[in-house]
Amino acid sequence: MPAVLSASVPSQTFEIRRFDAPVGAEVIGLDISRPIGEADFARIHRAHLDHHVLVFRDQRVSPADHVAFSRRFGPLEIHVLHQFQLKGHPEILIVSNIRGEGGEPIGLGDAGVYWHSDISYKPEPSLGSLLHAQELPSEGGDTLFADQHLAWEALSPQMQARLLPLKAEHSYLAKYEELRAKNPWRPKLSPAQIDQVQPAVQPVVRTHPETGRKALFVSEHFTTRIVGLPPDESDALLAELFAHSVKPEFVYRHRWQPHDLVFWDNRSLMHLAAGTPDHLRRKLYRTTVKGDRPR
Ligand code: OGA
Ligand code: MN
Repeated sequence: MPAVLSASVPSQTFEIRRFDAPVGAEVIGLDISRPIGEADFARIHRAHLDHHVLVFRDQRVSPADHVAFSRRFGPLEIHVLHQFQLKGHPEILIVSNIRGEGGEPIGLGDAGVYWHSDISYKPEPSLGSLLHAQELPSEGGDTLFADQHLAWEALSPQMQARLLPLKAEHSYLAKYEELRAKNPWRPKLSPAQIDQVQPAVQPVVRTHPETGRKALFVSEHFTTRIVGLPPDESDALLAELFAHSVKPEFVYRHRWQPHDLVFWDNRSLMHLAAGTPDHLRRKLYRTTVKGDRPR
């Protein structure tokens, strides 16, 4: 009997090319809106684990396609800022600096202005996020990704030993009011929203559940303190780790091309919005895949 593939989905022809950078690869020729069989999916999954951020080029796909592809990797998170959900698609968060006719924001305009890993402030943070370009500025608007496995591996054995037993608190509220003061359009959180984002305690060093590799897991955006350390010591250690974790040798800078869909691993990377000039429009759609409790 000839070998029979379980599903009759024909495979697609696509290439995976790693970037000339510490992390990242682009996927060329795959159409995420067409059926993806088990073998193709396994290739994508493997590449995601190997490169941590995949850039699927030229995805002229609908929000429903974006959501369906994202779901292949796990259940999706609904973001606490429900104000910025895409109509009809609560799984999509609009990331945009665009204002409507009345001056009201159409999306989260200052997403990712500090280094972070998405949803690290919940007990079960995100596995990965998928950001799809809708409208890009003619300059600026890049997204940076820093490899937290490389950051961990570059630490001295003494520092590694010191960090291994530590835990840190992460809070969505850590920078919320500061950002709201700068960007008054940021919605005031309701008591129900505040309830959803109570601080979570995470290991300072996590082990990737699929590859077994260790990664640093503290961020400027959400990590407030190291549990059990006096405030001065905690502040000093966090400042040192924040500076270390985003050194240029760990970073890939993504310059967006039209219709890029970028899928990164929040268990391996931190990311940062490098910034868009105020007068230029930028709009992307984000889905967020749920992940495991870090260990
Ligand atoms: C995000 C985010 C960065 C960017 O959507 O999670 O951090 O460059 N975005 O828009
Ligand atoms: Mn983010």
